[in-house]
Formats: sequence, C-alpha cells, structure tokens
Amino acid sequence: METVIIRDEKSIEFFKAVSSIRQGNLVAFPTETVYGLGANALDTDAVARIFEAKGRPSDNPLIVHVARKEQILPLVENVTPLAQKLIDSFMPGPITLVFNKSRAIPYIVTAGLETVAIRIPSHPLAQKFLDLADIPVAAPSANVSGKPSTTTAGHVYDDLNGKIPFIIDGGPCSVGVESTVVDVTGEIPVILRPGAITAEHIRKISGDVSGIGSDCFNDDSYETAINQNTPDTPMSPGMKYRHYAPKAKILLADAKLLEDRIKITRDIVDRTISDGQKAGIYANDKIIAALEADGYPQKMIHTFSYGNDGDIKSALAKLFSALREMDLMKVDVVVAEAFPIKGIGVAYMNRILKAAGIFTKKNVHEKKKDKILFVCSGNTCRSPMAEAYFNARAVECNAGCFADSAGMNTIDNLPASEEAILAMKELYDIDLSGHKSKMITKKLVADAKIVLAMTNYQKSMMKEAFPQFSEKFYTIAEYASIFTEKEEELDNSDIPDPFGSGVETYKEIAGRIAGYIDIILGL
Ligand code: TXA
Ligand code: MG
Repeated sequence: METVIIRDEKSIEFFKAVSSIRQGNLVAFPTETVYGLGANALDTDAVARIFEAKGRPSDNPLIVHVARKEQILPLVENVTPLAQKLIDSFMPGPITLVFNKSRAIPYIVTAGLETVAIRIPSHPLAQKFLDLADIPVAAPSANVSGKPSTTTAGHVYDDLNGKIPFIIDGGPCSVGVESTVVDVTGEIPVILRPGAITAEHIRKISGDVSGIGSDCFNDDSYETAINQNTPDTPMSPGMKYRHYAPKAKILLADAKLLEDRIKITRDIVDRTISDGQKAGIYANDKIIAALEADGYPQKMIHTFSYGNDGDIKSALAKLFSALREMDLMKVDVVVAEAFPIKGIGVAYMNRILKAAGIFTKKNVHEKKKDKILFVCSGNTCRSPMAEAYFNARAVECNAGCFADSAGMNTIDNLPASEEAILAMKELYDIDLSGHKSKMITKKLVADAKIVLAMTNYQKSMMKEAFPQFSEKFYTIAEYASIFTEKEEELDNSDIPDPFGSGVETYKEIAGRIAGYIDIILGL
C-alpha cells in the first residue's frame, strides 16, 4: 500500500482521507499533543487494524476523539457536574477524560473496560478532519510499538509507511507529549497520565485532584513523576518500559544550578566517549554551547538543543523528536537535562524516566538509592551470590541502586557456604567471605523497591506472607525477562538450590544469576 502524505487541507486527498476513515481504513492525523492513528471507533474491524499497524497487542484501551462537546454524551453513561466543569474548562485541548462508557462503544476500544477515554483535540486540522468525518475516532499515538510517540508527519511516515493509506501533515505538534488523562468517574478527578494540563490547572477548577503529579508541589522525587498505578501498566510495573525504550541509554543531568548540570553532562560525555561510545546531549543552548566548545570529535557526539535555559515547554515539545534523532544518529548514551518535578515538569520527567527505565534506575543519574532485595531459602548461597554480583556491577556501571539479600528459612549470622565463596572468587573475583545470613522481615521488604526470589515457590510464599507488598515480588528470571527487548513470554524458570553439590554446580548457578543481573542492569 502506498502511503499518501496530505499537506493541503483543501486538496482532494484530504477529502479522500475523510471518506477512507469512514469506510474503515486508518488515517494518521495531527493533534496538538502527538499524531494519532485513527479508525472509526464504532467499527470493530477498523479498530483491529490499529493494533495490526502498530504491531502491538490490544491490551491497552484507546482514546476516542471527537470534534465537539455535544458528541460526548452518546458515548458515555453520564456527564457528572465535575466532568462538565472540566469539559468546559479544558476541551478542546490536550486533555483526555475517562467516563463510564455507553453501549455505543465496543469493548475492543476500551480493552474490555467499562470506561471510555474521550478527547477533543484543538489542532485545527484535527478539528476539521473529525468534523468532516463525523464519527468518533479511536486513536492511539501514531508510532509503532517500542518507539516514542510521533510529533511530525515525517516520524509517522518512518514508522507506518506502507501500512496506512493516508497521513495528514499538520506540522510539528506544539505540545509534543500525549494528553493528560484524567479519570472523572469518581468524586474527585484522578490524573492517570501527566501532560500539558497539570494538576495545578485541574485543581483550580475542581478544588481537589489526585493521581500523578497531584502531590508533588514540594516534592521532586522521581517516584512522584512515575506513579505506578497508571493504566499504561496493565500487567506489571516493569512492562511499560518496553513501550518507550529508545535504543540509547538515558542518563539525567539533574541539578539545580546550570553549572552543575554542565558538569554532570560533561562527566557523562567524557565517560561515554572514553568507553568508545557515542554520546548524545539533549539540553538548553548554554549547555550545548559549553559542550561543543570542549571540542569533542564530531562523530563521537550528537547535540540537540531545545532552546533557552528553563524553557520547559520547549523541552517537552521537542523531547520525542530528540529521542528519535538520537536513535537515528546511533547514539549509545543520551544525557538529558532534568527539570523540577512540578507543573509541566511532571509530564517531562514522567516521559523521560519511562524512557530511561527507572526500575533499576540503571540509566538515571540518581539522587536517591533504590534497593533490590534478593531472596532464597538459607541466604547462604544463591541470594548472597546475587547480592554481591549485583553490587559489584552496579558500582561499575554507576547504576544508582544497590542490592541486599535475605532468606526465608534461615537463622541470622551464618556465613556464605564455602562453595559459594569459591565460585564467586574464581568466576568474578568477588569476596563473599564477610557475608552474614539474615531472615527476611517486613521491614526489609518494605524498604526494597523490588524483591527477587530464586524460585516461583519462594515468590508465592512471600506474596502470601506480605500481601501488602505483593507488587514487589518477582522471580529473578521473570524480572530479567521484562528487560529483554524481545516481546516474548516471561521466563518462569527457577534457580535451583545448589546446597550440597560441588563447586562446579555452584559456578553454574552463579553464572545463571549473573546473566540475569547483567540483563537487569542493562549490561
Ligand atoms: O495525546 C494523546 O492522548 C494521543 C493523541 C493521539 O490523542 N493519544 C494517545 O493514545 O496518547 P495512546 O493510546 O498512546 O494512550 C492512551 C492512554 C493510555 O495511557 C491508556 O491506558 C489511557 O489513555 N486510557 C485509554 N482508555 C482508558 C480508560 N478507559 N481508562 C483508563 N485509561 C485509559
Ligand atoms: Mg502511545
């Protein structure tokens, strides 16, 4: 199929695109946030084509786009006074509201949910297209799975050429990241995805707001920018990073003072280049100028300025373009400037932390250290080997996180087994002789970001013992498979207990554990 790019809204092609979407085909169209890949929301076959073109399973609900407020009512069960206020204040614009759905909306659109997300984009071409099409249009961002959302028609063409008949070109998107998603089914609005319409904006209208970014006026922790309860995370917290993962590693230059941000950027660039890798920089004019003045060989660095220092709006608008360009330029490590997590800084940090993959924080220049807790039965072989290997590698790659270990069936202060000590020494020159076993406790689990068991049985026992933390438990194999690039089944294998076998078996087990940890750390 040949993909036609439409640049003139008065051309015959524009009207062909309108009739094409009415007939069940896909049309990519611009909005002020990102480009959308639209299909008739009332036609299940048409909606199924979206998932085919994007190359992703239909596990994430889609946003339904309409041109005018009157078109909302038939699609939803009811519009509460709160929802009405938000509609009147922010639509059309970069916001999506989640309502209880009416029977008109097929379940393929909502991924089986009883709620539906509705958006009225303000972009003039989106308005014109939706108005003429005169149907509700289901549209995710117009990118293939695994790449950032598209903010120019060129990006859409790169991702979907040959798969869809029409792309309407509306120039670069002014907002540049996806809309703020707000659940309005309850008493107070809940922000599910942060965007250009911020918690502060919404609070002014509704008096109260919860969800991502609602509680971070004085708190700029990374956690606040990536609340885990977003609908982007249908299965488990780690899963969502796949959707955003750029090829390059992302590190943040996170400091209040410009000179410190320059210094962090320079340090990372130096380190990257001395590893023989190519560095990319996404930052303001001044940082870029400082780094360019350093005279690095041109083929080792690629710079992308978003504009003036502190212009968060521009940094947000150009972020996805920059990430795509960094991949095209085959950059290995991107240093991106961090922003304070407030206002639209929440949306910026949310997207960049997702792109970086914060769970191990392997890529993030960290302020706060996250702990990973490895657990086995005795805490004398498998989990101490995992802890020691993880800590050795985490230091080497500046991961900003560290490991601890515990046993589910042990007593305190046992040394590591002799074979484990030998195996770690021989394989990795790591000294386990100082290890002392400890029993798992609620506090150890509470303080850990993630708890990795050696076997599925241990995982399920921990889930039972600490149900309040059930989202923290994975097996090491399963957790590592979340970080592999391939969209394959989770690895549900166990790491068996080598207790009582010879050193060779211990080495084999140590090697397997190390392999998983390398994947988790992105090595
Ligand atoms: O700016 C945007 O929102 C763009 C443009 C094209 O409108 N669209 C977009 O769509 O970003 P997509 O599919 O990439 O993201 C849709 C988001 C997901 O986070 C999804 O989980 C959430 O909206 N969503 C959709 N329906 C929902 C529902 N019923 N309940 C909760 N969240 C929902
Ligand atoms: Mg998307």
